[in-house]
Amino acid sequence: MRVLVLGGTGSIGSAVLSEFLAAGHDVLALARSERSATLMEARGAKILRGDIRNPAGWVLSVPEIDAVIHAATDFSNQMDAIDRRLLDALLPMLGAMPRRVRLVYTGGCWLYGETGARIATETTPFDPLPAFEWSVPTIGRVLAAPEIDALIIHPAMVYTHDGGVFSSFVEDARTGGPITIVGGEHVHWPLVHADDLAVLYRLALERGVAGASYNGAAVAGLLVGSIVRSIARRFGLAAPELRTVRANTIAAEKGEWARGYALDQRMSGDKARRELGWRPAHGDPLRELAEPG
Ligand SMILES: NC(=O)c1ccc[n+]([C@@H]2O[C@H](COP(=O)([O-])OP(=O)(O)OC[C@H]3O[C@@H](n4cnc5c(N)ncnc54)[C@H](OP(=O)(O)O)[C@@H]3O)[C@@H](O)[C@H]2O)c1
Repeated sequence: MRVLVLGGTGSIGSAVLSEFLAAGHDVLALARSERSATLMEARGAKILRGDIRNPAGWVLSVPEIDAVIHAATDFSNQMDAIDRRLLDALLPMLGAMPRRVRLVYTGGCWLYGETGARIATETTPFDPLPAFEWSVPTIGRVLAAPEIDALIIHPAMVYTHDGGVFSSFVEDARTGGPITIVGGEHVHWPLVHADDLAVLYRLALERGVAGASYNGAAVAGLLVGSIVRSIARRFGLAAPELRTVRANTIAAEKGEWARGYALDQRMSGDKARRELGWRPAHGDPLRELAEPG
């Protein structure tokens, strides 16, 4: 398939780009800078120059495609308006394609809010943080759009051995600590390795039923305290000092969206396993994180 990837240098999109190229798909990637274009071109993608804040500048240049993966955002307080204007331009263009186009749209575990001991599934009602309230009607819009066949993926917290949501933990541990966490070590995060999530995007694209949503969680929920201690062990820190910051502090520093780091959540990826045959390879993050890369 010829697939347009939005956000192909990001935590999610870069793994998606590699997975799709490895599976033989023809990948066209949107790049807003020379740096992003060079990175993605070097990995085998074709490049379309453009910015999601100015879709009119590039949507009409999109060649015939079969699918779009949307994993681009700037985490600004304009996310809502940027995404709305992007969809305003993208959907009619996709509707005019000769073949019906699939759009895989990215939601996220934070849309389920604090779950406590409950495990969120695709039928759990949304309870988003204020910063992501706009996502719920947007997902409704995407699913109802007559121009496309839409699928939604709700990723858990996306990590790699050294990066993604664990980047700051790794950096803190590498420099001997203290390791800063948000909300407290009792907080649970649902987890997925970026490479496993990328496989889920591919399976959703290739086999998913139009209109379906899939939660991308390989592990339903792990304590942030355990995650941090595993990473610390890798750097020889047997009893790392933890520094807890409150959600208000991280929100003031990074933006309201960052309150999500303090959410105590569990989320199940069983539907994707059952319906798409998704088999995450990284099922034991605590063991992997404690090992050298
Ligand atoms: N990471 C997670 O744990 C996680 C979990 C659940 C849901 N999500 C959701 O997944 C989506 C992607 O998240 P992420 O963590 O992968 O983000 P990320 O690592 O920050 O990557 C964002 C991507 O969007 C691109 N981008 C940003 N602004 C752009 C613009 N104006 N024009 C064109 N491209 C632009 C960036 O390209 P440049 O190279 O130009 O910067 C980058 O490729 C978000 O909607 C997020 O809420 C993420």
